[in-house]
Amino acid sequence: MQEIRFEKATSFKQKPQDESKLGFGKLFTDYMFEMDYEAGKGWHDPRVVPYHNFSLDPATSVFHYGQEIFEGLKCYRRKDGGLQLFRAKDNFARMNRSAERMAIPQFDEELALQGLIKLLEVEKDWVPHTAGTSLYIRPTIIATDPMLGVHAAKRYKFFIILSPSGAYYAGGLAPVEIYVEDKYVRAVRGGIGFAKTGGNYAASIRAGEIAEEKGYTQVLWLDGVEQKYVEEVGAMNMMFVLDGKIVTPMLNGSILPGITRDSILKLAKHMGYETEERRIAIQEIFDAAHSGKLDEAFGTGTAAVVSPVGALCWKDEKLVINRGEIGPIAQKLYDTLTGIQFGEAEDPFGWVLKID
Ligand code: PLP
Ligand code: COI
Repeated sequence: MQEIRFEKATSFKQKPQDESKLGFGKLFTDYMFEMDYEAGKGWHDPRVVPYHNFSLDPATSVFHYGQEIFEGLKCYRRKDGGLQLFRAKDNFARMNRSAERMAIPQFDEELALQGLIKLLEVEKDWVPHTAGTSLYIRPTIIATDPMLGVHAAKRYKFFIILSPSGAYYAGGLAPVEIYVEDKYVRAVRGGIGFAKTGGNYAASIRAGEIAEEKGYTQVLWLDGVEQKYVEEVGAMNMMFVLDGKIVTPMLNGSILPGITRDSILKLAKHMGYETEERRIAIQEIFDAAHSGKLDEAFGTGTAAVVSPVGALCWKDEKLVINRGEIGPIAQKLYDTLTGIQFGEAEDPFGWVLKID
C-alpha cells in the first residue's frame, strides 16, 4: 500500500463551544485527506493535509457535466471517549460501484480506509461528545480535466472532509412530514439512481423547494415510469410497518442501496421482526392506512439515522401516521442501531471498527 504523507497545519479553527447548535454539515475541521489520479499514473500521493480551497480552471469538467461521486458515513464517540466507525468498508465499496457507473477509475478501498483513519487520528478532538452528535465524513471524487468535451476525464481528485454534526432534521427524532412527488421524477432504471452522485441530488432540489413551501420536510419519490411505486426520500430509504411486518422497496437500480437500510433489515430480522423487500404501490400504503393496517412509516439513512414519518401528503390527501408520533418499532430500531454505532450495545454483525 502507498504511504500516506502528512503535512502539518499552521493555524487551527476554534472548535464549537455549544454542541447543541451544530446542525448538519456546516462546519469543517482543520485537515482533509486528498489523493489524485492521472491516466497512466493511477491514484497517487495520498496525504493528510491542512483543509484548503481548490484552485480549478473554469473549464474543469466536474463544473459542467457533474462527473463526481460522494459518500456519507460517521465517526462516533463512545462513552469511554474512544472513537469508532460504522460499516466504513461498505461505504468505500459502494463508492467504487458509483465510480464504475460514472466512468471514474476504481480506487484502492483499503488505502481510502487507511487515509480516513489517519485523518481521524489527527482530528480526533473534533468528534463531538454530546448524545446524538457525531463527526460526519464526506469522501468525494471529482473529475478535474479542464476540457469541455463530454468524455470521461483523465484526471480526478479524491478527498475526504469532516464535519461535526447533530441531527439532520432540525426537529431531531420528531416525525417529519413528507410530500409524495407526483410531477417530477428523480431516477429511472438504467440511469444513475443507485449511484451516489451529485446529479441525483441536483434533479431533486426543485421538488424539495416546492415541498418545503407547502410545509413538508422532504419529497418521497415515486418510480420514474408509472409514478405508482414508492422509491425513496431525498436523503433516506423508506420503510413501512404494514400489519406488523416491516416492508421496504426492493433495490431496483433506481434507488440508493442504503447502508442503514441494509443494517435495519438485518437488525429487524435478528430481533424477530418479519421483513419484506418488494415493489410497493403508493396506493397500497394509503389503502392500508384507510383500513387501519399502516402501523408506522420511517426513513433510514446515515444522516437521518431512523427518522419517523408522521404524515404523507399524496395528491390532495394528507395521511397522518401513528397520530404523528414515533412508533414503537421505529423507536426500538433507532435505539438498537444507535446503541451499536455509539458502542453501547452488542455488535452482532461485526459492523464497528474501533479506531481509538
Ligand atoms: N437515499 C438517498 C438518496 C441518500 O442520499 C441516502 C443517504 O446517504 C440514503 C438513501 C441512505 O443511505 P445510507 O443509509 O447508506 O446513508
Ligand atoms: C447521508 O446520509 O450520508 C447523505 O449523504 C445524505 C445527504 C445527501 C445529506
